[in-house]
Amino acid sequence: MRVLVTGASGHIGAELAGRLAAEGHAVIALTQSASQLVANDGKPLPTVAERADQVGPRRIASLRADVRHPQLGLAADVYERLATAVDLVVHCAALTEFGRPEAEYRAVNVRGTEAVLTLASTARPRPAPVVHVSTTYVCGDSHGRFGEDDFDRGQTFANAYEATKFEAERIVHRAIEAGVPATIVRVSIVVGASRTGRVRNFRHLYTLLRLFTDGRIRAIPARYGALVDLVPIDYVATALGRVALEVDAAIGRTFHIVGGRPLSIRDFSDVLAEYPAFDIPRVLPPELFSVETLSAEERRYHDLVLRMYAPYFLRSVVFSNDRFLATYGLTSPLAGKPLLRRILDYCATAGYLGRTRALPPLPIGGPSAR
Ligand SMILES: NC(=O)c1ccc[n+]([C@@H]2O[C@H](COP(=O)([O-])OP(=O)(O)OC[C@H]3O[C@@H](n4cnc5c(N)ncnc54)[C@H](OP(=O)(O)O)[C@@H]3O)[C@@H](O)[C@H]2O)c1
Repeated sequence: MRVLVTGASGHIGAELAGRLAAEGHAVIALTQSASQLVANDGKPLPTVAERADQVGPRRIASLRADVRHPQLGLAADVYERLATAVDLVVHCAALTEFGRPEAEYRAVNVRGTEAVLTLASTARPRPAPVVHVSTTYVCGDSHGRFGEDDFDRGQTFANAYEATKFEAERIVHRAIEAGVPATIVRVSIVVGASRTGRVRNFRHLYTLLRLFTDGRIRAIPARYGALVDLVPIDYVATALGRVALEVDAAIGRTFHIVGGRPLSIRDFSDVLAEYPAFDIPRVLPPELFSVETLSAEERRYHDLVLRMYAPYFLRSVVFSNDRFLATYGLTSPLAGKPLLRRILDYCATAGYLGRTRALPPLPIGGPSAR
């Protein structure tokens, strides 16, 4: 198969592109600005500068394009060749960072999805199936069970990322109704590899963990009962690859790829407490948390980072993945507390978390008094 992977330089896209090529498929790796693909283990993935219609099995051809533009900003002949070359599209490209202007999310996440669906629908000799990668956080502020068939519950969103990923799903639904063979795969919070804990870049949740464990954020507005689902990158790539390669079973349906053993904020706090080198923030009910009482430094971290992530510590939502398990039968090799420990161990070993502190002197007469 010749597979177009958009967002191929991203955390998920690169891991998926590498696996598809290793399994013998020809991959067209669409990136916007990145000049190379790097797998989660840090190794660059070799790419070739071949035309989309000529890339052979086990090879990854890189293609620079911008999903914000009609025809992905490609010259007419390049776009045409792409449309005739592609058997399947996995759409990972998205603006995933928090805190950018709303229009930027809309351009990439909504209009970019439209442009990719248009490409797939014009593919010849028949429309190419599209695996649209979404987030379980299209649930917004929903509480309780959020299933693979749940979508519009009148929820409100914590940020423009969530809102535009929700809108993108609506566009995929419309495309499916219009005859484009598409599926939606929602992923929860992606972390490092299940076996090693290794992660390619420390960002998102990792930035927060650093601010917490360094003592730079000392209190968070959260509820102990709120739930967070972590999922390891290797499982995400395997599961997504399975959906892509057995896409007939997925068309017209939505799936959840999740760790499956959500952690409560209390669990999070308990696991952090197992690491003597880590500071642990106090968990304050939101009604007791006041930005006014923060030091100038803490307030800066609050405004820059915590403010955007705090909603994730307040939601008690469980993402069921019954359909994914029944259809593809793949479970995450690690989840819940053991997964959190694995990623924290990696962060500590890599020197990202756990500053070395001078131990306080022991009382006179103790061994350190010599
Ligand atoms: N990581 C998670 O925890 C997580 C969780 C749930 C769902 N997801 C979803 O999974 C997908 C992949 O996420 P990720 O974490 O792998 O993303 P990521 O690491 O942030 O990478 C984003 C990718 O999108 C590409 N991109 C951004 N703007 C583009 C544009 N205008 N035109 C073409 N490509 C563009 C980037 O290309 P350049 O590098 O070339 O700029 C990059 O390859 C996204 O749809 C995201 O919503 C991710």
